[in-house]
Amino acid sequence: MLMNGEAPKTADVVIVGTGHGGAQAAIALRQCGFEGSILMIGRDDAPPYERPPLSKEYLAGDKPFERLLIRPEQFWQDKGIDLLLGTSVTRIDPAAKEIALSKGGPVRYGALVWAAGGDARRLSCPGAHLSGIHAVRHKGDVDAMMADLEGGARRVVVIGGGYIGLEAAAVLTKLDCQVTLVEAQDRVLSRVAGEELSRFFEDEHRSHGVDIRLGEMVESLSGDGDRVTGVKLASGEELPCDIVVVGIGIVPAVGPLIAAGAAAADGVDVDENCHTSLDDVYAIGDCAAHANPWAEGAVIRLESVQNANDMATTAARAICGNPEPYNAIPWFWSNQYDLKLQTAGLSMGHDVAVLRGDPAERSFSVIYLKDGRVIAVDAVNRVKDYVQGRKLVEARAVVDPEALSNIDVPLKELL
Ligand code: APR
Repeated sequence: MLMNGEAPKTADVVIVGTGHGGAQAAIALRQCGFEGSILMIGRDDAPPYERPPLSKEYLAGDKPFERLLIRPEQFWQDKGIDLLLGTSVTRIDPAAKEIALSKGGPVRYGALVWAAGGDARRLSCPGAHLSGIHAVRHKGDVDAMMADLEGGARRVVVIGGGYIGLEAAAVLTKLDCQVTLVEAQDRVLSRVAGEELSRFFEDEHRSHGVDIRLGEMVESLSGDGDRVTGVKLASGEELPCDIVVVGIGIVPAVGPLIAAGAAAADGVDVDENCHTSLDDVYAIGDCAAHANPWAEGAVIRLESVQNANDMATTAARAICGNPEPYNAIPWFWSNQYDLKLQTAGLSMGHDVAVLRGDPAERSFSVIYLKDGRVIAVDAVNRVKDYVQGRKLVEARAVVDPEALSNIDVPLKELL
């Protein structure tokens, strides 16, 4: 193992990225019986760790970093998987099958698995360079935020009402911070959830004291010296703050692939085996645009642990000569306060949304249909609906909406 060491000059499979996708690609290769050399290269200094807890238990101080590790450090060594950390891939030469590194290298590959994910999108307005502005993507981002909190920061402006912004707002409120959340759209979670769910989460956050501002644009950030002290909105209002948390999405990290000529529009294009248009180059996870069977074949990127893990297995099988087209059903979860949201399927393009249960009781589901078929379920504190609803999605079941709304009938009986 080369934790921060020097790279070998060649590897049968080079994996770029040490997130969920990269780690699972290495694990799946060994599970498929791959006996060649594997080199995993990551910009992060730490061995592969889980990212979802960064905006939840890790920020809350409830889970130490050791418990975030995807596998104990010894595992990688035992499996003969080399880890080159603190290193970026800067260039790909697809003809020579060689990559250049930010330090050391170059390295020749037999197959390349690109699992570099995305970078947290940054604000581009005046003042965006100030200190005290935090993303939530890497351990280091959250460590820096926690240091500010320990230093007495209490007034927080969260920019972005996606999962990252909302989860951070929930934890920071629990940590006795005074939180204002600014969302550009007219509802939170607009990219990923239906309106019923958005309104429910807005109400929840407000009842916990979060000041939610919808349809607001950030014009600039003001500072005292190099430190942020306020967020100025386009409406003219200035929100004073000690820190800013930015959760406005990601930018797929695909620069070297594009420069090497890979076909790409948003992220990088892959086929059903996660293969890019470059010979022996695969891409998986957040950055991989693919025709998704659960979106009627629409070409999409999915930013989730499920997608990273399942695409990793797909790529590993293809490398091992035992391909199986990607067909995994999308699922996702989010924890905010004592609420557990679980989703299965993709609700985009639905024509009917059925509410099951009462949001006021903080336990309900929304089931989405298209052309009479169940395409997705969002379940809040209703694990049974999630588990059984997922089966309806898998079966693309045709179900009467009225029956779905009756909470006295378990969803499994409608299959
Ligand atoms: N000001 C305010 N809000 C903005 C701005 C802006 N300048 N730009 C974008 N937004 C809002 C969007 O409207 C959206 O509601 O920020 C939200 C970003 O949500 P996501 O795109 O879902 O991204 P984020 O919450 O940052 O999550 C990033 O981490 O947990 C994972 O699945 C998640 O992969 C995703 C990633």
